[in-house]
Amino acid sequence: MPAERFVEQLNSQIGNEFAAHQQYVSCAAYYDELTMPQMAGFFYKQAMEERDHAMMMVQYLIDQDARVVIPGVEAPVVDFEDLVAPVALALTQEKRVTAQINELTRIAREENDFASDQFMQWFIKEQVEEVATMHDLLAVVKRSRDIEAIEDYVQRELGNEGADPTAPAIAGGI
Ligand SMILES: [Fe+2]
Ligand SMILES: [Fe+2]
Repeated sequence: MPAERFVEQLNSQIGNEFAAHQQYVSCAAYYDELTMPQMAGFFYKQAMEERDHAMMMVQYLIDQDARVVIPGVEAPVVDFEDLVAPVALALTQEKRVTAQINELTRIAREENDFASDQFMQWFIKEQVEEVATMHDLLAVVKRSRDIEAIEDYVQRELGNEGADPTAPAIAGGI
């Protein structure tokens, strides 16, 4: 069994990941309304990844015979000032999640919960990538503000990310 403190914190992180999922759906819908299909597609895909993160955590708790307690989530931001705002919000969110992932790792270590420590390692790597991606995308949307140039960048640079064979298993298997 993982440490009780870790289980509690991981259950609350499941809520944070689902909140991130909804936030990215909201960002995607905003760009879809602006007829920016590449940006919309990018955020729909990010949303699915956040959902998968939550379901990886669910699977881990099940595998470890720990109780799964799915939390409610706060409503996402739905009003954006301009087309830079959703990306700025996404970068802030990814930085916040990085701190949450680090905190989970710290708890696992404090509790000598080695399996949970190892489980968190994939998320640490994932957060480095997600912060970097949002950081670069923010630079592009700030500098360009030209819809076609932004769409081209997303299609060219963020179009195809292959499956990660090292990723933890997802509850439900999808
Ligand atoms: Fe995530
Ligand atoms: Fe993320």
